Amino acid sequence: MSTVLFIKANNRSVKESISLKLYHSFLESYQETHPHDRIIELDLFKQELPYLDANLADGLTKVKFGIELNEDELKAIRIADQYLDQFLEADKVVIAFPLWNMTIPAVLHTYLDYLNRAGKTFQYQSPKAIKDKNDPFAAATGLIPDKKIALLNARGGCYSKEPFAKLEMGVNYVKNNLGFYGVKNIETVIIEGHHQFPDQAEEIIKTGLEKAKIVAKSF
Ligand SMILES: Cc1cc2nc3c(=O)[nH]c(=O)nc-3n(C[C@H](O)[C@H](O)[C@H](O)COP(=O)(O)O)c2cc1C
Repeated sequence: MSTVLFIKANNRSVKESISLKLYHSFLESYQETHPHDRIIELDLFKQELPYLDANLADGLTKVKFGIELNEDELKAIRIADQYLDQFLEADKVVIAFPLWNMTIPAVLHTYLDYLNRAGKTFQYQSPKAIKDKNDPFAAATGLIPDKKIALLNARGGCYSKEPFAKLEMGVNYVKNNLGFYGVKNIETVIIEGHHQFPDQAEEIIKTGLEKAKIVAKSF
């Protein structure tokens, strides 16, 4: 039995939202095909997620140097730890999110800020130990290479190809963070272009939702 964490980062109605339709297609298909797995749903917009700020940054630095923390710092670390531990305990993680203003919703950014933790998701590498200077991920050793992740994303325009691909800082942002943690196994289902090509929108969305169901079966 696997524990699967389903995360959603969109609080629009499912009727309106394509990324939430992706979430539900994937979830229903997954439940049908993996009836014995334990599923945990995390709706980021229903959580109180304080931004990464001085309390968390200073608190973590103090922990590193064995300095006593004040109450605000302790509280900030406790909140981040709660989400970090839940993420680490899951065998598989599914994250559904829209592209907003070329990037991810702020709640997901904050959530990823909690996951970026030296000693838990990655370990800094000493500069001398870095073998491949051209590997951007070589500065750290990822500590969770076996975590299975699925990214479900919807975006109104097409960003799959250049010159538009470089503008996309949503899926790329999440993938870069996961790459830093050493995650190798990432499934991606993206529905894109339904705003850019409204005459094809119905077909684009239908095809994407079907793909989500298929990917969920073998996830
Ligand atoms: C505030 C806002 C910003 C958006 N920014 C972009 C964008 O930068 N690029 C894009 O292609 N689509 C953008 N869109 C469209 C969404 O990506 C599109 O609606 C997609 O289906 C994901 O949102 P949904 O899950 O709510 O449907 C934006 C939509 C909103 C509401």
